[in-house]
Amino acid sequence: MDISQFSKCYAVRRMKEADIVDIFTLCSKNHLFYQYCPPFVTEESIADDMKALPPNKELSDKYYLGYYDAEKLIAVMDLIRAYPNENTAFIGFFMTDVSVQNTGIGSAIIDELCSYLTEIGFEHVRLGWVKGNPQAEHFWRKNGFTATGVTYDTDHYTVVVAEREL
Ligand SMILES: CC(C)(COP(=O)(O)OP(=O)(O)OC[C@H]1O[C@@H](n2cnc3c(N)ncnc32)[C@H](O)[C@@H]1OP(=O)(O)O)[C@@H](O)C(=O)NCCC(=O)NCCS
Repeated sequence: MDISQFSKCYAVRRMKEADIVDIFTLCSKNHLFYQYCPPFVTEESIADDMKALPPNKELSDKYYLGYYDAEKLIAVMDLIRAYPNENTAFIGFFMTDVSVQNTGIGSAIIDELCSYLTEIGFEHVRLGWVKGNPQAEHFWRKNGFTATGVTYDTDHYTVVVAEREL
């Protein structure tokens, strides 16, 4: 995948250790998300997430990305190529900066991503939202994702698995 093609509006960069402070600043303002998906973010949890992989995937399948408007980090996305199958892309995490929320930027980023994924032959995008999180559920439904009927439980919350057909 060519991340320079993910967006025409924003510069997309792979996040490195040096970016953790900026990612933390963005994430730590999103209190509602961590209310539903505890524990609250830390710099250590971001460092762990940057390396985290689903079963049978490798770091070369992982795209932990920052979206920049000029030099300002406005969104973070964790995308896994070809998971859980060859023609599906998996969004493990997506968050926008609170200063730009509710202006359509999150939807624009997802639309651009889906267009690119379609172009390169993907057929589905899959993700999970935490059951009961009104912001996440509204956002993903608005962006064409529907619940697959599959859910799974963690110690603290239930994840609703959803998919958008490309
Ligand atoms: C979900 C998120 C990515 C949306 O980003 P955004 O840039 O605000 O996206 P948009 O402006 O395109 O759309 C936001 C939509 O959410 C709705 N929304 C915002 N807060 C809400 C809430 N508390 N309850 C219900 N809907 C809410 C807005 O009304 C808007 O929908 P509308 O256009 O139908 O009115 C952003 O709110 C976020 O980062 N939240 C925390 C992380 C998260 O939940 N990520 C998704 C799960 S991985």
